[in-house]
Amino acid sequence: LHLYDGLFPQFGRIIPGHEFVGIVQDVGKEISHLKRGDRVVVPYNIACGRCFQCQRGQPTACQVSNPKYSGTKGGTFKDKGAAIFGYTDYFGGVSGGQAEAVRVPFADYGARKIPDHLSDEEVLFLSEILPAGWAAVEWAGVRGGETVVVFGCGPTGLMAMKAAWLHGAERVVGVDVVSYRLKMAQRICQAEAIDASQTDPVDAVIEMTDGRGADLVIDAVGMEAARGMLERVSNLMHLQMGTIKVIHDVFSCVRRGGFVSVLGTYGCEYAAFPLGQWFDKGITVRAGQVPVHNYIDELMKLVAKGKIRTEDIITHPLRLSDVGHAYRIFSAKEDECVKVVLHP
Ligand SMILES: NC(=O)c1ccc[n+]([C@@H]2O[C@H](COP(=O)([O-])OP(=O)(O)OC[C@H]3O[C@@H](n4cnc5c(N)ncnc54)[C@H](O)[C@@H]3O)[C@@H](O)[C@H]2O)c1
Ligand SMILES: [Zn+2]
Repeated sequence: LHLYDGLFPQFGRIIPGHEFVGIVQDVGKEISHLKRGDRVVVPYNIACGRCFQCQRGQPTACQVSNPKYSGTKGGTFKDKGAAIFGYTDYFGGVSGGQAEAVRVPFADYGARKIPDHLSDEEVLFLSEILPAGWAAVEWAGVRGGETVVVFGCGPTGLMAMKAAWLHGAERVVGVDVVSYRLKMAQRICQAEAIDASQTDPVDAVIEMTDGRGADLVIDAVGMEAARGMLERVSNLMHLQMGTIKVIHDVFSCVRRGGFVSVLGTYGCEYAAFPLGQWFDKGITVRAGQVPVHNYIDELMKLVAKGKIRTEDIITHPLRLSDVGHAYRIFSAKEDECVKVVLHP
């Protein structure tokens, strides 16, 4: 949606698609663990596995996969990290999986074979959103008894809720502005729900936690959060891509000394970032593209054992030729769309 909505600029043509499974058609000469006919799921981050950063467990910072734009300083339109499938030239300009076929660079380090007894749908979300939700909970060291609040009941937030229970959370709360998504969080994630279009979510969380605030608050919304016209104008004037509205809410309803995991994507510098509040409350914040390579094998085992199910978020299995319709309903949140899966 960041490309569709113009939140991340892309000037030339690119095939989008982070999350895909497929059948190997051919392999390059350095690939030893895969052969034609294998069914695979592929991490959305592209990493070489051999450079300084990859060797230190940082595939999202691979220094090799995004030669044109990778860099250390970090910046809005330069100095990015590893390449990502189907996610603008700044992230490598690599074609993604919304296609009949896709080239997988560094497949020896990325692609994972799928056990025969698992369906495509059961493993598809190992490519990105399940590791993302899992990491958001692990980053905060959740061990049992915590209250975990998740802003955003889209696919990513739903995965974080599932992961929170599996780490022993005592309460899991979902926040959203769209009622059918809140209902899904209640139904498939047994979450308590706060409708931020009806009530102030910060007040609600503080009240639910005896005035203390939540132990872990996860931002699974990002810069595309719903915002009013005035804020749109202000964001435009500050040359900001989207808004940090949810960051303000998240920092306000986490307990002092608590944890914040930012999965939601942010693309530039933002005015009025709550640095003083971060310092004053002593919050631990982690953010970033999630290193799928570090989690996928452990999570594949949990999926294979039936400990975690993710295919229950799929609302729209569609043909690849319906992709235009799919983008429209996912973006406009029509037809109770939560997750589209495209079949070529
Ligand atoms: N860090 C990572 O590696 C990683 C991985 C997966 C997804 N993401 C990011 O996570 C974000 C969410 O992804 P998604 O696929 O679930 O998207 P999505 O658009 O389906 O979900 C976002 C949800 O946030 C809700 N929302 C909007 N404004 C809100 C507000 N003010 N308060 C509460 N909820 C609000 C929307 O109604 C929607 O249900 C995106 O920014 C995506 O790029 C990051
Ligand atoms: Zn590397």
